[in-house]
Amino acid sequence: MTIVKNISLKSFNTFGIDAKAKSFCDITSIETLRDVLSIQYNNPLFILGGGSNMLLTKDIDALVLHINLKGIEVIRETEDTVTIKAMAGENWHEFVIWCLKHNFGGVENLSLIPGNIGTAPIQNIGAYGVELKDVFVSCEAVRIKDQSTRTFSKADCNFGYRESVFKQELKGDYIITSVNLQLTKNNHNLHMDYGAIKNELEDSKIKNPTIQDISKAVIAIRQSKLPDPKEIGNSGSFFKNPIISSKQFNQLQKNFPEVPSYKISEEEVKVPAGWLIEKAGFKGKRFNDYGVHNKQALVLVNYDNADGAAIFELAQLIRKTIKRIFDITIETEVNII
Ligand code: EPU
Repeated sequence: MTIVKNISLKSFNTFGIDAKAKSFCDITSIETLRDVLSIQYNNPLFILGGGSNMLLTKDIDALVLHINLKGIEVIRETEDTVTIKAMAGENWHEFVIWCLKHNFGGVENLSLIPGNIGTAPIQNIGAYGVELKDVFVSCEAVRIKDQSTRTFSKADCNFGYRESVFKQELKGDYIITSVNLQLTKNNHNLHMDYGAIKNELEDSKIKNPTIQDISKAVIAIRQSKLPDPKEIGNSGSFFKNPIISSKQFNQLQKNFPEVPSYKISEEEVKVPAGWLIEKAGFKGKRFNDYGVHNKQALVLVNYDNADGAAIFELAQLIRKTIKRIFDITIETEVNII
């Protein structure tokens, strides 16, 4: 195991923030992970996956463990389904491409989501009508404190909208090392209800889409709205879409009849934070080398070499303004470090 001192994390976070790590260890095997933890479990540790869902507002005064475990294998197969074990350090989108190549269905709507396999369950990644939980079977994780291994079933993970047990009760306790997903080999269950997907397929004159066609549509939609982290630093949706009471929503709709919404239940309605932020006048606003994306107001961007703390201040200003105008509290989806 090699521990490097004082290194820049700029290339390890999709926001491209130039924060430093006190020390850094690349983890390429579970044995190394156990060895490092058995010595360091009591010292400050920072677990780094794809670095796609965090905003670094300061240097990391800890040992950074970069989870770089690789491998994808089929572990079970029936006539119609396949169970795949993917190691935590595999890039999510490359995994989706691998599935499409083998004609395994279930993750095509989640094309182009940044990040790694191992972090996907933490926030139950989701897009265009599909969430990780829809294909999730289980994951394996190592407990930091005693290096024991535990298999988490879907029920154990307690998934919700951008939520799981790993963000709640077990926050900071476990390192996910691999994830098992069940996908279809034929009779794929296609999710095309999302308006933008329907439009994209219609524009391409595709009547009976394959999972590959859906992936292509999703990629086209994402590329038209969301900045590519390789070109402009960002962490996808910076905020979660707030869920408000139907009563509050009715009031909101009186003042803003055009407000988009998704009904959750008789009592609750989800409102797109991107719409609230746009309405509050922040869409496309640029402050020096950071700002709010001009095509999707839910995404904060680092144009060049912005300071994470300054981006966080902008996020706070947005939150306060949304609260003042709409009396709605929006929470960050991205982890603020
Ligand atoms: N909207 C605006 N202005 C904006 C952005 C959005 O008015 O600047 C409106 C749109 O017109 C639309 C509604 O808000 O009526 C929803 O917008 P969109 O379809 O772009 O989806 P979203 O709710 O903003 C969520 C996820 C995305 C995911 C898309 C598609 C969250 C926090 N975000 O965004 O996830 O790709 O749905 O399913 O739930 C991510 O998590 O990083 C991410 C990109």
